[in-house]
Amino acid sequence: MQNTSVNQNNKKKLGPKLLWYYALGVIAVWSLFISLSLVWHHKIMSSGALDAAIIEARGVFQNHIIYRSWNAGHGGLYAPITPKTQPNPYLDIPERDVQTVHGKKLTIINPSFMTRQVNEMALEKFKHISHITSLKPVRIENKPDEWEIGALKNFEKGKDEVSSLEIINGTEHMRLMRPLITEKSCLKCHAKQGYRLGDIRGGISVAVPMEPHFSIQISNFKSFIIIYFLVWIAGLFGTILFMTILGRQIEQRLIVEKELRRREKLEGVIEMARAVCHELNQPLQMIIGNTEILMLDDIDDPSVLARIKIIKDQVDRMGKMTRKLISIASYKTMDMPQGKVIDINKSSKDH
Ligand code: HEC
Repeated sequence: MQNTSVNQNNKKKLGPKLLWYYALGVIAVWSLFISLSLVWHHKIMSSGALDAAIIEARGVFQNHIIYRSWNAGHGGLYAPITPKTQPNPYLDIPERDVQTVHGKKLTIINPSFMTRQVNEMALEKFKHISHITSLKPVRIENKPDEWEIGALKNFEKGKDEVSSLEIINGTEHMRLMRPLITEKSCLKCHAKQGYRLGDIRGGISVAVPMEPHFSIQISNFKSFIIIYFLVWIAGLFGTILFMTILGRQIEQRLIVEKELRRREKLEGVIEMARAVCHELNQPLQMIIGNTEILMLDDIDDPSVLARIKIIKDQVDRMGKMTRKLISIASYKTMDMPQGKVIDINKSSKDH
């Protein structure tokens, strides 16, 4: 008896406690899931920033292509000679420098010369670094740097774009390069170097600062951190709430089960008591019957008669008690010095 009650107590404590270990496990998995999602999201956003910078750099390159083909379509354009715009010593075509009827001096600006001037302006205005270059430069100052050599060699192999994140002047830039293909309009000036239609004449490399893209990424990421945190907290509270409710239900169930076990045990005892009473009833009836016969006999000794009466009364009491016991439907207990006992009087149907 002692052992079973100890076991039951252990069980009662173990259920909810084990549940909290599960809760810790769920919270750990949840936290891991949220942190991994955050890391993953950060990665996506970083690659998004890189993509945005690539698109920006591509736009810069495309602008170069548009005005360059406009210029090349005209076979170069005349511009007034100024201290900044001096005749291009590498441009070897007839009527490179002309004079208007009023004496204004003009020189032809070839596309590459125009690009170099535009590049200076773009650097000043937008911090875009652009460079026109070739593996075989006509103008030696147009020679490529290491990164550009690599890109140009890739173009020779058939690649049409090279881009990577590079540190330029101490800050991060998205560097992108695309080839300049020899078109019909280019041949006017470049056929003499041996270029044919479709050849890679060189390329323009463009570098755009990453800072604006990174700052967008950071501010977006900050909002996402808040959202992720709120979702994490919601999960945390949800788990705690769920486990608390579950814990309570388990506890209640254990109490009900314990009560049920107690009742089952008691019912067994009552069942047995009822059976015993049933068996006792017949002998008791016999005793009562015999005492009644004895009392009808002529007994002179009043003390003997009194004793017989006492026996009859007591046996009557016993009979009543057994009848009550047999008719027990539900039981009431009463507190006695030796513990709880069933109150037969209150429990019987006759009561
Ligand atoms: C009006 C003449 C002219 C035309 C047309 C012309 N170029 Fe050039 N190009 C030059 C000269 C001169 C240079 C070298 C000096 C310089 O940088 O201005 C040059 C330089 C270049 C460079 C820089 C590398 C180097 O060799 O120094 C590239 C690349 C280039 N040209 C590509 C082209 C392409 C592609 C076209 C056709 C869309 C084209 N050019 C049309 C005259 C021309």
